[in-house]
Amino acid sequence: MSAAIIDGKAVAAELVARVAEAAAALKVEAGVVPGLAAVLVGDDPASAVYVRSKGKRTREAGMASFEHRLPATATQAELLDLVARLNIDPQVHGILVQLPLPPQIDAAAVIDAISPAKDVDGFHAINVGRLASGLEAMVPCTPLGARMLLRRALGDMSGAEAVVLGRSNIVGKPMAQLLLAENCTVTLAHSRSRDLPALCRRADILVAAVGRPEMVRGDWIRPGATVIDVGINRVAGADGGSRLVGDVAFDEAIAVAGAITPVPGGVGPMTIACLLANTLTACRRSLGLASATLFD
Ligand code: GUN
Repeated sequence: MSAAIIDGKAVAAELVARVAEAAAALKVEAGVVPGLAAVLVGDDPASAVYVRSKGKRTREAGMASFEHRLPATATQAELLDLVARLNIDPQVHGILVQLPLPPQIDAAAVIDAISPAKDVDGFHAINVGRLASGLEAMVPCTPLGARMLLRRALGDMSGAEAVVLGRSNIVGKPMAQLLLAENCTVTLAHSRSRDLPALCRRADILVAAVGRPEMVRGDWIRPGATVIDVGINRVAGADGGSRLVGDVAFDEAIAVAGAITPVPGGVGPMTIACLLANTLTACRRSLGLASATLFD
């Protein structure tokens, strides 16, 4: 038997279409266009690609995109000043400061300065705490996208054993919170966990977010499990070029899992789609409106 492939690209396209429709309706009903400000400090090529792509996708969804670039030599005071201006700009409903930041800048202080209501990354301590408390929060985009794929693949997750591999603030920790809220029994495993293969084999739902190419082997996977691969790793290809692989050895996993996300085309496309959804949500909340139904 071979696992079902979870088509993140298709689900992301559907989510973006819903966001675009809701944004268009908001413009008609309230005369407001949701706006996302993306801030790039320095000229890391990968970050520049991400920020450009976020801007393009934002405009395609009928929302306003504001791109701000600061030189790699920018001071923390300059970045904090920009964030302060975006916090009070009525056209800006979402603020994203692309990480990583240059070493002279304290990323935690910058995240702390973003208005929690505009924190579409969900990185501010207020949002982290609200998510952990089960309150309405801005939720980090990658785990939000992974949850949507899991809901599509599984429906009710109550009672499932979920193992999250990786304890980052961006993915692992919020993913664990979301799975707990879905009534899973959650294990948050990491590089110091004892006997990772055995831990992973317990999982009905396995989320790999460690950033190590193909670390999760086929024999780490429980037969029939649903596997969400958050990794995007560039490795040398056989032809002398390079190729993208996930944190899961896909060719091995597909023979064991019940369903699995591919890399690319799994979780990746969901992240930007969720960023657009969070921007729409932030805009609606700023107007006192409930969140649109986007993620079912
Ligand atoms: N760098 C890598 N991933 C992310 C993300 O989700 N948000 C931001 N702001 N920076 C990132």
